[in-house]
Amino acid sequence: MNREILNQAVEEIRKQVPALGRTVYGKPLVYLDNAATAQKPQSVLDRVHQMNAGVNGNVHRAVHRLSEETTLWYEEARDAVKDLIGAAERAEVIFTSGTTAAINTVAYAWSSRFLKAGDVVLVSQAEHHSNIVPWQLACERAGATLRVLPVDESGQWRMDLLPQLLDERVRMVAVSHISNVLGLVNPIQEMIRQAHAVGACVLIDGAQGIVHGQVDVQALDCDFYVFSGHKLYAETGTGILYGKRRWLEAMPPFLGGGDMVDTVTFEKTTYAPLPLKFEAGTGNFIGAASLAPAIAFARSLTTPTLEENQQEIIQYLNEELRRIEGLQIYGEGPNKIPLFSFSVAGCNHGDIATLLDKLGIAVRSGLMCCEPLISSFGHTGLVRASFAPYNTLAEAEALVQGLHRVVRMLR
Ligand code: ALA
Repeated sequence: MNREILNQAVEEIRKQVPALGRTVYGKPLVYLDNAATAQKPQSVLDRVHQMNAGVNGNVHRAVHRLSEETTLWYEEARDAVKDLIGAAERAEVIFTSGTTAAINTVAYAWSSRFLKAGDVVLVSQAEHHSNIVPWQLACERAGATLRVLPVDESGQWRMDLLPQLLDERVRMVAVSHISNVLGLVNPIQEMIRQAHAVGACVLIDGAQGIVHGQVDVQALDCDFYVFSGHKLYAETGTGILYGKRRWLEAMPPFLGGGDMVDTVTFEKTTYAPLPLKFEAGTGNFIGAASLAPAIAFARSLTTPTLEENQQEIIQYLNEELRRIEGLQIYGEGPNKIPLFSFSVAGCNHGDIATLLDKLGIAVRSGLMCCEPLISSFGHTGLVRASFAPYNTLAEAEALVQGLHRVVRMLR
């Protein structure tokens, strides 16, 4: 497709996202830290403002009009999530404060019933800390063991090692759909199939995956799929725990409190039906409601034109980043999303990011909550540029030009 048409399509989207129009140090912002958090469209900002300004009744709590309106917005967002991920029923969609809270819920509640001494939890070497530490805690409590599926030098899962690693002792496989460092779409369908064949349960960390592709939890047949709202253009402090009903029914609650109960006496408490059983206390109901416009926005980004634009960005960066002397990319293959983590010999990752920032270019640097993976590359940190469908090819060019300049300064 003609470059002008691609640029026009991206510009139309950018107009809906106010933060993209700002400047930093007098320079136009080039926002390339979307894997950390995405910028929000006006529709999300409007929903949050509208609710704070006039519909601020506590969700599910009262018969008054404000509470009822809040509940409508909130439950409408649950339907939007259900449709987005293809869940069988809305009761399987639980609002949490983010991916971390969703994983901790499963790691605590599921494990308390189903993880026993001698069992194994399998994670990959490329997991985010939030998909490692909750499982370490669960293993400690249960007397179970954490096992690690390594990645190869390109960052791809070593699926060839699964026959050795995936045996009947493995009760849970907790892996990411897309690594937040490597930017590779993992073969989760095959992993789920093999895990189920040995009777293991599968949790997919979809924090990055939900943003970069269609997810159908029933087709995948995963047991749990979790993600955050703020990476999907919604308000911060929101997340989703999808779980198959039979697991959610069998798990004890994680947090106890208001809204998650049926009846409470000092002798015995019974719990609310799903999904409320896992939504104790006043949650971030305004943030959760913003998931509805956020999902509508995310859906509007899945056009062939915007997809082609992203593919061109991937191709451009694959070629041009390599021209920078000493630059090494981590995470390579045809299953790459527009997310590039790299090191540059002789230059500190933090220095690169700091100098790029002065040019108006926002990237992430450091361990990216993936210390085991980044340490295995022999680094104390990397630089990461992560793109969203609203990023332009010109911004990828600005990154490359900026890097040439910064590297010259640092050497
Ligand atoms: N997990 C987020 C990131 O990769 C915060 O930046």
